[in-house]
Amino acid sequence: MNNHDRKMHLNLFLASMGHHEASWRYPDAPTEHLFNFTYYKELVKKAEQAKMDSIFLADRTSTSSKSVKYGALTPFEPTTLLSALAVVTEKIGLIGTVSTSFNEPYNVARRFSSLDFLSNGRAGWNIITSGTDSEAQNFNLDKIPDHALRYKRAKEFLDVSIKLWDSWEDDAVILNKESGIFADSRKVHEINHKGEFFKVRGPLNISSSPQKRPVLVQAGTSENGKEFAATYAEAIFTAQQTFADAKAFYNKVKERVKKNGRNPDQVKILPGICPIIGETKEEVIETESKLQELMNFDHSLMQLSNRIGTDLTSAKLDEPLPELPVIEEIQGHKSRTELIIELAQRENLTLKQLLIRLAGGRGHYTIVGTPQKIADELEYWFLNGAADGFNIMPQIMNPDFDLFIRLVIPELQKRGLFRTEYTGNTLREHYGLAIPDNQFMSI
Ligand SMILES: Cc1cc2nc3c(=O)[nH]c(=O)nc-3n(C[C@H](O)[C@H](O)[C@H](O)COP(=O)(O)O)c2cc1C
Repeated sequence: MNNHDRKMHLNLFLASMGHHEASWRYPDAPTEHLFNFTYYKELVKKAEQAKMDSIFLADRTSTSSKSVKYGALTPFEPTTLLSALAVVTEKIGLIGTVSTSFNEPYNVARRFSSLDFLSNGRAGWNIITSGTDSEAQNFNLDKIPDHALRYKRAKEFLDVSIKLWDSWEDDAVILNKESGIFADSRKVHEINHKGEFFKVRGPLNISSSPQKRPVLVQAGTSENGKEFAATYAEAIFTAQQTFADAKAFYNKVKERVKKNGRNPDQVKILPGICPIIGETKEEVIETESKLQELMNFDHSLMQLSNRIGTDLTSAKLDEPLPELPVIEEIQGHKSRTELIIELAQRENLTLKQLLIRLAGGRGHYTIVGTPQKIADELEYWFLNGAADGFNIMPQIMNPDFDLFIRLVIPELQKRGLFRTEYTGNTLREHYGLAIPDNQFMSI
């Protein structure tokens, strides 16, 4: 048995019934609990008992009457669900998605400080810029703003949020009943930000939270996305189809982080892994083919069209993926579109085969196998420079997540690759991330 000092980080990407687009139709899927808090509470408690670092909720602020016909709903607003989960858990980190394109920094900074207090230091923010026209149409716009403009706004959004979190120095709250001094006003700062997108006076109306700032998570993979991550992110989610691509991405991002004067160890890279797990090969094959049988290709085409911003709903399934606009012209999720085109070309897939490949995790790496096989892959990526940990995306929550907890995690623990007990209390402590310096403290 090997024992490693460096432990991998494991995040559960919580998707209601699972990440496979047909997961909600799977016979064991408890769809009656889709809007039931207890269902999510039990899943997250299981992840905590297994000592996972964190759970993560994605978000998209739109749907359509067409796409809901076959199932495409994110049931709860992430920070609301995370606040409820905060009070029924003690250790596990709570990461939620909020878009910088359709919010204001003051509201978002305040929301994450509140979550950080409610959870005693376990809040994380997955920063997204959104990528579809359908979302823009819910926020006074017809089309999603250009990719570069979204990242420009995101950058200023983050600068303002960070100033707001820093606007209360650590020891600003006095609470002296005798003197009647509530807070030391010299240690509570107006930020007086005036920029291209935002004009914010500050200070924030909540004091400095246990982690000072939520852990900043990001998942952009385009050039703009990588630069943004290298400047701000402390954890990076990424979709990578092969070990070679994952390793190249890992090296490039860590190099950029270093170039930006930051410590690469303070940025954790977590590729997504979508397992289908079975105790025997036969079991795995049965689950995989059952899920394929349950797919609805009209729905899959609609999902793909929305994701890549090109209407493919009348494309022929037994032909290759039609020609798409060159990557420079794509204004939606650039890097994901690139990944999908590359996958179709590399494996010479028909559109139908591509849709089957994407169904399990929308372009994340799918592993189908026994617990040993899954553990072997995770170990290989982790020990050979492609990952600091993984974003676990079970294709069906039930029973894949149970099997991951019951069989894969103990196997990783036996190999000395994953913690057997929590060694800290906050999300920063689980990920080995320092508390950032407060920019106003030295003034
Ligand atoms: C694990 C993971 C989770 C993501 N979650 C969301 C999400 O909740 N909402 C969203 O709009 N985009 C989400 N994205 C998309 C990214 O934010 C990003 O737009 C995408 O990877 C394309 O990168 P780019 O913006 O640099 O082109 C996610 C990506 C990954 C890898």
